Amino acid sequence: MKIRTAVFPVAGLGTRFLPATKAIPKEMLTVGDRPLIQHAVEEAKVAGIERFIFVTSQGKTAIEDHFDVNPVLESTLVERGKTKELDRVKSLQLGPGEAIFIRQQQPLGLGHAVWCARSLVGNEPFALLLADDMIIGDAPCTAQMIDAYNKQGRGNYTAVMDVPQEHVSRYGILDITQDDGTLVQAQDVVEKPDPATSPSRTAIVGRYILDPLTFDKINIHNFGVGKEIQLTDAFKPMIDAGVPFYGVRFKGHRFDCGTKEGWLEANVANAYNDEAMQPRLLETLKKLNIASQ
Ligand code: UTP
Repeated sequence: MKIRTAVFPVAGLGTRFLPATKAIPKEMLTVGDRPLIQHAVEEAKVAGIERFIFVTSQGKTAIEDHFDVNPVLESTLVERGKTKELDRVKSLQLGPGEAIFIRQQQPLGLGHAVWCARSLVGNEPFALLLADDMIIGDAPCTAQMIDAYNKQGRGNYTAVMDVPQEHVSRYGILDITQDDGTLVQAQDVVEKPDPATSPSRTAIVGRYILDPLTFDKINIHNFGVGKEIQLTDAFKPMIDAGVPFYGVRFKGHRFDCGTKEGWLEANVANAYNDEAMQPRLLETLKKLNIASQ
């Protein structure tokens, strides 16, 4: 079945990036000249996604405005002959009816945010992208995930990477049964395990292809780790119901832009990869290095 729908949960509080995220949604923080959510939407578009479902909350209307038409801005750019800027702004908009917004009324966790999209997604597999996990690489991560799904068939898929043992307690960690180096299969997923008892170092990052059974298996009465309704808690019941769970070791670098350090690294990497920006970046680093001596 073609993956045509993507869900973007953007209703989190972003407490790790306060005070920046007090009035600005975390997903509107910029890497280069675009907000994080724009990077994620572009990645999904390239992978063939046609329906973009955003799970939002109070204070996140900037995200809706970002993807909407802005007639005053557009007419002003036309009047001032700023055609390059106009083309850029227009190229980032979503088409009529392509964007759907639904609210998560309380920040009860990622599992709950995904569950809020159930009636919009319907009975088909879908992509899930967490915009604060930015992945930079030659092949867009969501396209790599869809490729794996197309080859392997029905199942739940998540992007994975191996992390240092002392970091496993920050992630959902796979209990692996098979591993061919690129695709791994798991019999369970444990959310934020103790490093001493973690089943592996293979960690989930924010890209998924999910089976629609997920909506039935998210238990909205079960508050897990961190007193949140965890998406990972839905995977074991699905494995037991015969839906296999796969991890895809993607090609690319992942930056946790939900933290100040990860966001800074993503901006540096983005500037370094940009032909126009790279000389200025290197010059600045050199200057600062000289200044600090
Ligand atoms: P995070 O785990 O980064 O949580 O969410 P958070 O609340 O946004 O940030 P911190 O941990 O307090 O700093 C991962 C993704 O899930 C969404 C977030 O918006 C982010 O895209 N999310 C999280 C929701 O949509 N709703 C929730 O209740 C929790």
